[in-house]
Amino acid sequence: MYHIDIMTLFPDTVGDVLSESILGRAQERDILRIEAHQIRDYTTNKQKQVDDYPYGGGRGAVMQADPLYRCWAHICEQYGKRSHTIYLTPCGKTFTQAEAKRLAWEQDHLILVCGHYEGIDQRFIDECVDEEISLGDFVLTGGEIAAMAVADAVCRLVPGVLADAECFEKESHWDGLLEYPQYSRPAVWHNMEVPEILSAGDHAKIERWRRKQSLLRTRERRPDLYAKLDLSSKADQKLLAELKRELSRPSLPQPVECRLAEEKDLNDMEVILDQAKTLLCPIGQWNENYPAREDFLDDISRDECYVLTCDGKVGGFFTLSVRPEAGYAAITDGKWSADEPYAVIHRCAVAEQWRGSGLADHMIGACQRLALAQGIGWLRVDTHKKNKAMQGLIRRNGFQYRGNVLVDAPEGYDCRRVAYEKRLRHPTANVKKDI
Ligand SMILES: C[S@@+](CC[C@H](N)C(=O)[O-])C[C@H]1O[C@@H](n2cnc3c(N)ncnc32)[C@H](O)[C@@H]1O
Repeated sequence: MYHIDIMTLFPDTVGDVLSESILGRAQERDILRIEAHQIRDYTTNKQKQVDDYPYGGGRGAVMQADPLYRCWAHICEQYGKRSHTIYLTPCGKTFTQAEAKRLAWEQDHLILVCGHYEGIDQRFIDECVDEEISLGDFVLTGGEIAAMAVADAVCRLVPGVLADAECFEKESHWDGLLEYPQYSRPAVWHNMEVPEILSAGDHAKIERWRRKQSLLRTRERRPDLYAKLDLSSKADQKLLAELKRELSRPSLPQPVECRLAEEKDLNDMEVILDQAKTLLCPIGQWNENYPAREDFLDDISRDECYVLTCDGKVGGFFTLSVRPEAGYAAITDGKWSADEPYAVIHRCAVAEQWRGSGLADHMIGACQRLALAQGIGWLRVDTHKKNKAMQGLIRRNGFQYRGNVLVDAPEGYDCRRVAYEKRLRHPTANVKKDI
């Protein structure tokens, strides 16, 4: 059993806090025993006074050595040994997870001394205290909060207190990193989604994502910790290279929103269309006449055309149709996964200035939400086999190659396309249609 004795002027406060929850249950299971001792009970004067004026003058009072010593000696006597004694003080070395680990694993009994007023008589420290620990570079009224923090951090590392070591080995500060962001249900809250990778069930990918988020967080928030990390492994070097690429992306003006396109958007859309054509005409996916304003007018009239806006300005567009696509019935070199309703992404592009910014990933996310909001569980898309950018985008968003299809194209144009699909999550009630 691990023992902690706390010397304090407020034993009830300390006892109440440390007998709750996980530490309370560990005490019931005899893994821990935490006891708070009233220092006043060890005074020899009627008033139970524990403090007096500081020698040399000055404000406040100092806790006297004798009541502290008598309390401490009584505890040591109970255990039949001089136990490891810690004075909580802003003059001590700053407490860390590494210190918590050392105390949990190298000791089996701690005496924690809480000061009050201006502190405690130095002679008690010199005679009885083994180390001085500070909670941080600030001054508390008394040592109780610090003692409770140290006791809590130490006790949860004592074997048997938590279900298993993984509970603390994956947490912040165990291996010099801060923890990745955590999420729980529901999947969408206040229009914010849980990162998709966390629901896809691929544990290796989840671990990778978490490591990357931890590295990013540690670098941004605690450069002092980050500087001490050993990131020489191949896997970490790969993650760092990815982060570098991602962070050099242009940052999108917020908010990024998706709404149905209107005729008044057509001029902005045409600017983006022309930019996209400079890439897609040479490879044969689009041509001079396709897509044209009329195609978008048709899409708009059917409520199938959407724009992505960045701080109110049109930054991209796409068409999402739930009508079956004639050319998809005759897929070759593969097959679709299921004969179920699907939505198809057509005619999509993002403005030149936002290429590589993640806006295209927003677009895929919006397509998914819109399909799900209509109760549709599959998303399909086709693209020219030379359109590597589109294939990269859809693959990294979880689409899988399914085969080859032929699309309508004027004489003389290549109508072969590679076809991809993605199984979406089951429809959720709280996804808004206009997200
Ligand atoms: C008001 S403080 C005394 C501060 C002291 N006069 C000084 O300047 O260092 C009273 C008690 O609170 C506790 N305390 C205050 N700040 C603390 C910290 N950062 N870490 C641990 N204990 C602290 C100590 O036990 C201390 O004796």
